[in-house]
Amino acid sequence: MQVLVTGGAGYIGSHTVVELLNNNYEVIIVDNFCNSKREVLDKIQEITKKSFKFYEGNVCDKAFLNKIFDENNIEAVIHFAGYKAVGESVAKPLMYYQNNIDSTLALCEVMNAHNCKQIVFSSSATVYKESEIQPLQENFPLGTTNPYGTTKLINEWILKDLYQADNEWNIMLLRYFNPTGAHESGLIGEDPEGIPNNLMPYIMQVATGKLDHLNIFGNDYDTKDGTGVRDYIHVVDLAKGHLQALEGFKKYKGVNIYNLGTGTGYSVLDIVNAFMEVNQVDIPYKIVSRRPGDIGRNTGDPTKAYKELGFKAEKTIQDMCRDAYRYAVTHQKK
Ligand code: NAD
Ligand code: UFG
Repeated sequence: MQVLVTGGAGYIGSHTVVELLNNNYEVIIVDNFCNSKREVLDKIQEITKKSFKFYEGNVCDKAFLNKIFDENNIEAVIHFAGYKAVGESVAKPLMYYQNNIDSTLALCEVMNAHNCKQIVFSSSATVYKESEIQPLQENFPLGTTNPYGTTKLINEWILKDLYQADNEWNIMLLRYFNPTGAHESGLIGEDPEGIPNNLMPYIMQVATGKLDHLNIFGNDYDTKDGTGVRDYIHVVDLAKGHLQALEGFKKYKGVNIYNLGTGTGYSVLDIVNAFMEVNQVDIPYKIVSRRPGDIGRNTGDPTKAYKELGFKAEKTIQDMCRDAYRYAVTHQKK
């Protein structure tokens, strides 16, 4: 089966491509490297020893997409391509709306024209309204607080409307919680430009000496140790969920929405302590004030994905910390 992976050179996309190739899917990657590096493609090849097609270009470009669909026999698309930094989306909303929405509109139009009507879309836990009740379930109220989150919600609406208009479409909306870790080979992982916003990339830079300490944003939340609690999921577990979603197309028609998380919450201090213990490195930290817009707890109930897709995250926070550090160390030498 030929699968088109948009954003396949990115963090989650590259891990998903590895799983697809290892499971004998024919993969076509499209990426414009606006947030990834070309060398990732060689690393995918090195890990899997398998070949795949690659097209460099912008998913918002319909002529470019038409060419890809004309030259191949694509049966399903996994759509990762998009911008993902919350803070940047507040500063540059038009850039976020343009890229994250135009890419989906162009892609769906071209898919329609080629009678390819199966799409797995990267949504996010950020589409949920803040809730006292945790873990979050797929039918909980939705609401966003920043342009990035709004682009995810609008994409969900677009895809739902598309199905309303044409019931031949099959759509999987996957709401990821906090992807972290790296491939166990140490060859691919998360490598943000500049000072990271997210917890694990920041810890990785402290561990490798690029930054001298971690700022922990608040220890006065209503959580077991006062620091923020999240549902961290190993990126390889998350990647595997996409293969289960593709399989799910055979059984579940229409629009289906799934949380991809573990259902278990860990605090910032849990992560820092696990990282220090498994990697035997020191992570100096300071407690600072809360980060604006942060919430105390955000965890997702993965029961529906388990029952319907057979999805179950297997890896532990120790695995996430070990694999993230291995990638940081390997990558730094290059
Ligand atoms: P990433 O930035 O590492 O990967 C995205 C890839 O898409 C990059 O390789 C980038 O170059 C490419 N891209 C972006 N716009 C493009 C365009 N118009 N044309 C062609 N290529 C384009 O991000 P990621 O962490 O792998 O996330 C993948 C998807 O999952 C995104 O849609 C993101 O919003 C979503 N998501 C990520 C997280 C997370 O914490 N990483 C959480 C929830 C949802
Ligand atoms: N944190 C720190 N110090 C840091 C970075 C993070 O203490 O330097 C804390 C945060 O306060 C939070 C936890 O670590 O308690 C996790 O923070 P992240 O930034 O790693 O993750 P978030 O859950 O805040 O955000 C993530 C994605 C967003 C997405 C959001 C909603 O990065 O894109 O989940 O699900 F919108």
